[in-house]
Amino acid sequence: MKLGKLLHRGKVKDVYETDNPSHLIIKFRDDITAGDGAKKDKIHKKGYYCSIISAKLFKVLEENGINTHFIKLLKPRYMLVSKLKMIPLEVIVRNIATGSIVKRYPFKEGEKFKKPIVQMDYKSDEYGDPMLNDDIAEALGIANKKELKEIKRIALKANEILKKFLDKKGFILPDIKFEFGIDENGKLVLGDEISPDTCRLWEKKTKESFDKDIFRKGRSGVGKAYKRVAEIIGDKI
Ligand code: C5P
Repeated sequence: MKLGKLLHRGKVKDVYETDNPSHLIIKFRDDITAGDGAKKDKIHKKGYYCSIISAKLFKVLEENGINTHFIKLLKPRYMLVSKLKMIPLEVIVRNIATGSIVKRYPFKEGEKFKKPIVQMDYKSDEYGDPMLNDDIAEALGIANKKELKEIKRIALKANEILKKFLDKKGFILPDIKFEFGIDENGKLVLGDEISPDTCRLWEKKTKESFDKDIFRKGRSGVGKAYKRVAEIIGDKI
């Protein structure tokens, strides 16, 4: 599979055309950013590990009946996916209170929610990813009520599948962000990536973070943590 034209350069990934108009290749770079790109760095082999972790988690979801854009990992860093028209939503599922939710609301850090919370943010650098409700999302023309209900249903199902899988591997999943798109057949499909950049992972035994919070909090060892996650959950390359 040949890399075609560069279609989009994101904060940490590039998207390329391929020789098949229905497919794209996502290249995972070594960049890491936090605070909407305010904090930036490069971490050796980070893209390599994120692609391996993402590929495995998409495979687990597919095996459990979730439609994703994942086709295959061509080689580490390069993921072949089906082309989607992305919906500008960041769909966050929270199992445990941490991160921005404890800054904005009176939840206690580490408190387990009785049932997972779904939060939808408008994916927009210009507006700083503000939180939406269904009426605002519908008024903005992002999705209608029926589509939003379906997005929430799939996000909750994917959260349950990954929580169970990660638990067996020794990790707690406090929260996770999903992005969705519409494929050529008009089907709602899970896209983007699923990695320690887009979810929180705590080691069950120590409650230590193995995700981007290491970088957000200015600590060292983020590359080592991602490598460890890839070794524990990823398929052998
Ligand atoms: O920062 P916050 O607590 O809102 O993040 C919730 C979850 O969503 C975290 O797992 C975080 O990594 C993810 N997230 C993301 N991209 C964003 C915002 C949050 O992947 N732009």
